[in-house]
Amino acid sequence: GDEFADTDPVIRPFALKTKKGPNTKQDKGFQPGGGTAAPTRPAADLQVNAAMSLAKRAGRPPREVAEAIVAALREAGVDDLVAGLEVAGPGFVNVTLADDWVTGATRELLADDRLGIPTPAREVIPIDYSSPNVAKEMHVGHLRTTVVGDSLARTLERLGHHVIRQNHIGDWGTPFGMLVEHLLEVGEDSAEAELLEVDPNAFYQAANAKYRATKDDPSPDSFAVRARRRVTLLQSGDAETYRIWEQLLDRSKAYFNRVYDELDITLTDADLDGESRYNDELPAIGADLEERGIAEVSDGALCVFLDGYTGRDGARLPLIVRKSDGGYGYATTDIATLRHRSLDLDADRALYVVGAPQHLHFEMSWKATELAGWTRDKTRPIHVQIGNVLGTDGKLLRTRSGDLVSLQSLVDSAIERAAQVVAESRPDLDEVARGSIAHAVGIAAIKYADLSVSHDSEYVFDLDRMVALTGNTGPYLQYAAARIRSILRRAASEGGSGEVPAADQPVLELTEPAERALALRLLDYGRVVAEVGDTLEPHRLAAYLFDLASAFTTFYEHCPVLKAPTPQVRASRLELCTLTLRVLTDGLGLLGITAPDEM
Ligand code: ARG
Repeated sequence: GDEFADTDPVIRPFALKTKKGPNTKQDKGFQPGGGTAAPTRPAADLQVNAAMSLAKRAGRPPREVAEAIVAALREAGVDDLVAGLEVAGPGFVNVTLADDWVTGATRELLADDRLGIPTPAREVIPIDYSSPNVAKEMHVGHLRTTVVGDSLARTLERLGHHVIRQNHIGDWGTPFGMLVEHLLEVGEDSAEAELLEVDPNAFYQAANAKYRATKDDPSPDSFAVRARRRVTLLQSGDAETYRIWEQLLDRSKAYFNRVYDELDITLTDADLDGESRYNDELPAIGADLEERGIAEVSDGALCVFLDGYTGRDGARLPLIVRKSDGGYGYATTDIATLRHRSLDLDADRALYVVGAPQHLHFEMSWKATELAGWTRDKTRPIHVQIGNVLGTDGKLLRTRSGDLVSLQSLVDSAIERAAQVVAESRPDLDEVARGSIAHAVGIAAIKYADLSVSHDSEYVFDLDRMVALTGNTGPYLQYAAARIRSILRRAASEGGSGEVPAADQPVLELTEPAERALALRLLDYGRVVAEVGDTLEPHRLAAYLFDLASAFTTFYEHCPVLKAPTPQVRASRLELCTLTLRVLTDGLGLLGITAPDEM
């Protein structure tokens, strides 16, 4: 938050130096001795660019500022921590950490249940995510808000915040007239009704087709007339109508829960906070806004006009509170959600993990809520914008008939593709074992693809790339974890040779450059998790885990573990393996991905 800064100060770790060989990319299946020259230590561990941004403010050349930083650090006495400080290039400070410090910090990390993850000041954080619509299918867009929101919920919880999941399902509004009427017509226990739990779109389309066919038929028993009457009955709380609406809701909940279950999403019925919950509050919100002159009637609709919001033609953009037909809509409901989350839930940050196209909607409804004085000063509403998922043709992912691709079909095809990969890589396993690995791999492929690009940018849904065991994919990280598990299993079965150092002796030593480089990555985990908590960008964790897996690969290629030169070195390297596995599986867990024992 420095208005003078050109660039945000960052601390960037140096990469290990390896001679460029055919094998320097990553993952070569973890075969040791893959042909690369042994890596050497880089000139320094970290590069700090703070002097660049400070220079402008200080009105001094960056190199001079960098010298001043180095002098101040030397004076402060950082000898225990730092072995070398050096000004480089246009004004970087290159830092070499003291070997003893790195070893000591890594030993402490081994004993730390939290793996270095800090506990910042506790915030109350409601997170609105997933939020599908009742009696409609979840599509690929809902998949991404579900996956990103769930990862944020897990991560913020780990940081010690009080997370309140809010699944703002679309369970109210005029379509429910035709849906209730259709359910009555086909019968509550019919096969069509059961469709709601399997293929809700088919149910919705059937109701909609009937409505469209009769919408100009004024006779009192035409479907459209009955559907419209149902809307009124539902609004006025008619018991029978309400009961049938609840049927729709229950069946839809069963569908959502099945999807959540399959995808390992932490949402439960207790997290439901649907539109219907706010319905009773909407007339009073409208009346209040009108009375206080915040909203005015324009063309029959009650609208809030906010400063600075104009359309292309320069005309003021209305935020519609009450439509001209008297109904209240999506915007008014979101005034109510923010009011509730700020005043009742006491939110510090209120996250809305929703598609980017809804940004204007949120900006305007939150401004109106704030204007009305219905938020606490401390509450910061934040739209975590979700970008589109595209097909390999670069267009929105759609089926041949033009519908957005359903979530279920995506999940099914990912698991199917993963099954092919597993069948190839593990023909030795039986079908049940392969099936469960394929499930985990398919889900990881989808989730990681959603999480490894910044949440607001588009990405191309390319199953072949997503399920691959190499490259920056979820399955690659799972594979890395499985490989470490197999090393640890082999170590355990080989047993101690009697020469293993006593348990109370610190065994971890870092002598090889690749060991040290891996340790430095491990020591960075807590900072990265905290950064995700601040920036709400899970792709930073994904990138970190990919780096970590690559650092492990380099380590394993150059530092034999099971065939280490001495029992002491073997024990030390096994500790590095254990710690890498813990960080890797913990980080994957925060992304919502489980790592199977073997792959
Ligand atoms: N049901 C909406 C949709 O499918 C998303 C709701 C997001 N949350 C909110 N508070 N508006 O697009």
